[in-house]
Amino acid sequence: MPKEFRIFSGNANLPLSKEICRYLNIPLGKALVDRFSDGEIRVELKENVRGTDVFIIQPTYSPTENLLELLILIDAVRRASAKRITAVIPYFGYARQERKDRPRVPISAKLVANLISTAGANRILTIDLHAVAIQGFFDIPVDELYAAPVMIKYFLKKDLRNFVIVAPDTGGVNRARAFAKRLRETPLAIIDKRRIGPKKVEVLHVVGEVKNKNALIVDDIIDTAETMRKVADVLKREGVEEIYASATHPILSGKALQHIDSAPIKEIVVTNTITVANEKRHPRIKVLSVAELLGKAIKRIHQEESVSSLFV
Ligand code: R5P
Repeated sequence: MPKEFRIFSGNANLPLSKEICRYLNIPLGKALVDRFSDGEIRVELKENVRGTDVFIIQPTYSPTENLLELLILIDAVRRASAKRITAVIPYFGYARQERKDRPRVPISAKLVANLISTAGANRILTIDLHAVAIQGFFDIPVDELYAAPVMIKYFLKKDLRNFVIVAPDTGGVNRARAFAKRLRETPLAIIDKRRIGPKKVEVLHVVGEVKNKNALIVDDIIDTAETMRKVADVLKREGVEEIYASATHPILSGKALQHIDSAPIKEIVVTNTITVANEKRHPRIKVLSVAELLGKAIKRIHQEESVSSLFV
């Protein structure tokens, strides 16, 4: 068993990296992740990692600089003769084009997986991939964690009654079902949602019993929040009383805050896989931390122990 491990971080989500290090009671690895005068990324490790088990924490949401920082950090650590490199990617970006469902579109999730492996990562640790199949885009081991236990612990404290869990589209049914099972076998409803453009969502109708119930919408990503708003609107029309929502990854781009303002949702619970900047804070958005979950997984990977047992 390797004796020691080090954690390095890009700039995408330093608060989360520091929180993970505090949980593990180890200092964040010393590295310069800076810019040359022309804006190019400049990386330099400030400590020896030869023969070390190294974890590099960096979510890959926009801007693409975040992905590039991760690739360049991996390259630096590989060339410094680390024993093993785990790319810890709390939010795996470029995942929303994960299949060729129309002519002349890329599979960007596969391209990004290739880039990360080519840079020199030996393993991946991530949370709630947009589609489970993305695990198979890597030819290196992938540990996918679920934010569900963190969210469920929070919702259980609220003692929600007469509830239905709502999957906002058919792609999210398994995720919603897992929630429903853990929340005392809550019933499930599914939204027949169609996307009519990259930024336009059209909600059609609800499959399942929702009238006079309270609802919890379970999604992986909240980006423009248009999906959440439209789903909440349709649930209200169908006679739902209180609406809560959860989404692991708070991208919150474009008109997200306006959509949240006008959505009939009591509270939206997200995690800190992506930093929610001050200007994106909203009184109805609650941010939960995944630092402990990631910290536990890092420790188990380092000690060659089971990661899936975190979820039993
Ligand atoms: C879609 O398949 C995802 O699960 C989310 O529902 C979607 O990415 C949310 O996007 P937006 O907030 O922009 O509607």
